[in-house]
Amino acid sequence: MTSLTASHSADLVAALLFILSLAGLSQHRTSRAGVVYGIAGMACALVATVVVAAQSITAGAVTLIVLAMALGAAIGLWRARRVEMTQMPELIAVLHSFVGLAAVLVGWNSYLEVEAHGTAQTRVGAGLLGIHHAEVFIGVFIGAVTFTGSIVAFLKLSARIKSRPLTLPGKNALNLGALGAFVALTVWFTVRPDLPLMIAVTALALTLGWHLVASIGGGDMPVVVSMLNSYSGWAAAAAGFLLDNNLLIVTGALVGSSGAYLSYIMCKAMNRSFISVIAGGFGIEAPTGGGEEQGEHREVRPAEAAEMLARARSVIITPGYGMAVAQAQHPVAELTRHLRERGVEVRFGVHPVAGRLPGHMNVLLAEAKVPYDIVLEMDEINDDFAGTSVVLVIGANDTVNPAATDDPSSPIAGMPVLRVWEAEQVIVFKRSMASGYAGVQNPLFFRENSSMLFGDAKRSVEEILRALGTDGGHGAAPAARQATTAGR
Ligand code: TAP
Repeated sequence: MTSLTASHSADLVAALLFILSLAGLSQHRTSRAGVVYGIAGMACALVATVVVAAQSITAGAVTLIVLAMALGAAIGLWRARRVEMTQMPELIAVLHSFVGLAAVLVGWNSYLEVEAHGTAQTRVGAGLLGIHHAEVFIGVFIGAVTFTGSIVAFLKLSARIKSRPLTLPGKNALNLGALGAFVALTVWFTVRPDLPLMIAVTALALTLGWHLVASIGGGDMPVVVSMLNSYSGWAAAAAGFLLDNNLLIVTGALVGSSGAYLSYIMCKAMNRSFISVIAGGFGIEAPTGGGEEQGEHREVRPAEAAEMLARARSVIITPGYGMAVAQAQHPVAELTRHLRERGVEVRFGVHPVAGRLPGHMNVLLAEAKVPYDIVLEMDEINDDFAGTSVVLVIGANDTVNPAATDDPSSPIAGMPVLRVWEAEQVIVFKRSMASGYAGVQNPLFFRENSSMLFGDAKRSVEEILRALGTDGGHGAAPAARQATTAGR
């Protein structure tokens, strides 16, 4: 009795720590504290679970649990140390697939246990058998959808398969049909819990998860990742019901609801219908736009870019995925410092889905010690491009694509973008004319006020810094220095 009370208290403390963790993670300034609360909550939950389990299982089984935890922790630490920031979304997708698989296994185990022992030796009372059957079925269904959906997301994010949406004929009818079949099978299973029905729902959910995510493409993948995060939370909550574990139910519900809310916020930011994305691209047409070029582009060299910057009154930097790939945030921060010392107003415009995970750019800029107050969100800065001398597009592409606002047939039509083309001059830092994540060509590159600065973004920014004379030894580009005084 005492140990049960202690375990309930530990559950309560862990749940509160998880809530504090979510609150902390919602802001950059408090995010470190958020991580610490999360670790403390998880440690508390694990210790309490093992202590309670130790009273009803053998010492050998406890040893096995501790060994499994140690092995899992070692693998987790090893992966976390090695993973690049750019690979984070794919790692998250893999981790979601584990939660889904765990929920499927818990569901199957619970089904087989009750089938083998009847209700007598399990926690399930005879009167609650129907509810238990429904729990098993729903848990397996959510877990299996999460499992295959996350694997497809991982394959797409890591470019192991194409990110274009799969458009099977009648794909919406297929999804709706699968949901209808699930409801019918659930009713059937609560009446007659036969093994073939368990196999059928597992196969159905595995196929549905694969099809749902395969049908979503390009720019909508960020929403898919947070949607799978939400599904994995509900899968964990379902497993919590089966294991009679209150903390797992609470934690699953926290993850499920916060993931759903994040998906909703991202859909709003991208002007996408939440329902259509979570329903596997329901109502979204297959993209027709290609990656073909649309005219002539102009090129500039770093020294010319330095001259333009030296003459500028105001500069806005819009970073994207390429800045993360190039790890250009430190020279970009150095360039910012240098230009501000020269009296140039420098600000950053960050698109909500720039990069490959929410807050990706903010994390990189904070790491490079760019002051928070000059890093603005898209809505805060979008009206200011018109009065800006120079915009530096550093490795961004889809998030600055005017086709989103100008071309209704574009696959990214309707997605709000940074209106960089309204500035006097735009310099685009990238390595080639290749399209961005959504696979759509960018008309920005062919505008009269745009120039392409080809090459790795880090190297290009470093060369601009040298041309501006910041390396204290290799000499400044005289033209750039003169322009500073003459141009303003
Ligand atoms: P993207 O559209 O992905 O374009 C990035 C550009 O960076 C590419 O065109 C690439 O061109 C360039 N690049 C790559 N490596 C570079 C390097 N070393 N130096 C210079 N340039 C380099 O970027 P974005 O504007 O940030 O848009 C993000 C896209 O990802 C959106 O479509 C979004 O929906 C999607 N997405 C976002 C998330 C989240 S949550 N943020 C998650 C998944 C997907 P080159 O190859 O020619 O250099």
